[in-house]
Amino acid sequence: MAKGLRSVFSVWLIVLYLGMLGLHECYQPRVPGVYIFGDSTVDVGTNHYLTESECRSRADFLYNGIDFPHSIPTGRFSNGFNIVDYIAIFLGFKMSPPPFLSLLDKNKQLPKRMIRLLSRGVNFASGGSGILDDTGKQWGKVIPFGEQVEQFAIVRNKISELLGEEGAAANISESLFLISVGSNDILEHFAYNQSGQAYITTLMSTYESRLRNLFDIGAKKFGIISVAPIGCIPLIHSVTQTRDCFGPMNEHAQLFYKALHDMLLKLSSECKGMMYALADAYNMTTPILENPQKFGFNEVTKACCGKGNFNAEEPCTPNAKVCKYHNEYLFWDQYHPTQAASYLAALAVFGNHEFVVPITFGQLVSP
Ligand SMILES: *[C@@H]1O[C@H](CO)[C@@H](O)[C@H](O)[C@H]1NC(C)=O
Ligand SMILES: *[C@@H]1O[C@H](CO)[C@@H](O)[C@H](O)[C@H]1NC(C)=O
Ligand SMILES: *[C@@H]1O[C@H](CO)[C@@H](O)[C@H](O)[C@H]1NC(C)=O
Repeated sequence: MAKGLRSVFSVWLIVLYLGMLGLHECYQPRVPGVYIFGDSTVDVGTNHYLTESECRSRADFLYNGIDFPHSIPTGRFSNGFNIVDYIAIFLGFKMSPPPFLSLLDKNKQLPKRMIRLLSRGVNFASGGSGILDDTGKQWGKVIPFGEQVEQFAIVRNKISELLGEEGAAANISESLFLISVGSNDILEHFAYNQSGQAYITTLMSTYESRLRNLFDIGAKKFGIISVAPIGCIPLIHSVTQTRDCFGPMNEHAQLFYKALHDMLLKLSSECKGMMYALADAYNMTTPILENPQKFGFNEVTKACCGKGNFNAEEPCTPNAKVCKYHNEYLFWDQYHPTQAASYLAALAVFGNHEFVVPITFGQLVSP
């Protein structure tokens, strides 16, 4: 236990150090901007801007954000930062870019004073959403991947108004496009249908066409995060009432990775100038599940914040029960990793060849 704690503390020291580098902007960020797409794993508050009656997939209340600076619940599904926050810091930014919806005025237009900010990046990710437009309907309004891409097209036009077409093209082709999506499609599919490969094929053809849309309007560098072993999240344990992971769901996550791997190989051979790094969130997580202490965790089945069986029968709300040592838990709530787990994941995608192909995110952004 002492050893686990020590490794968590040394993680915090590195985070603080990197954070300070970011704050003082000792060096230029390694890319002009970061554009982020996907679901709650990378959402930094999008759903906060959808009205409460519209959207039930939210995290803009405590105890979410309890370890965020000033303990502010921002809409991140985490006790603190999520993976894109750390990736943005590693890239040399002060913090990860703001939600697109937070930049709009009350007429849902982008005001002039915001346009200057756009080329540093924008976050379009929306908790509960998926690759398919229908995924997430159970949460009321969420913003599917396809609509997120349309929002980027709006941003793209504003950037070319600001920098001219050539400037915008240069800026965007050097920027990082970070995508983490697919878990909700698979989770929802299981609610009513267990048959696998055909569904994965449908997901992949939609995923491919979204990436083509982004490529066609100038995106060149894609950092893509696959689906984690979602058969092992606390919500599943609370439903099956065992500590075992739900195998069929994990098999879907693995099929998804394999299909994504093959689709990206093909797509990048067809799209000249496309570069990508694919992070294997599945294999990145299994060593932690098998040997938690080695990574500083003491609990990898229960949620830190929730209620009931495995503390995961209910979401994390101000009425939930919260564990004492947040960062000794792999999972913050029913679905999502703690900030400590997100930090390890960001380190892995950035620099660990074992889990990222054909190059790491770090290499993707090196000149
Ligand atoms: C991108 O745009 C910003 C201005 O918003 C500029 O400072 C930067 O140099 C541009 N970068 C590239 C690679 O064009
Ligand atoms: C279940 O999956 C099969 C094969 O993928 C498909 O034909 C069928 O329409 C699905 N059923 C539902 C209810 O989605
Ligand atoms: C994980 O590692 C195994 C063994 O190297 C590999 O076959 C598999 O494709 C990797 N990824 C997933 C998601 O299973």
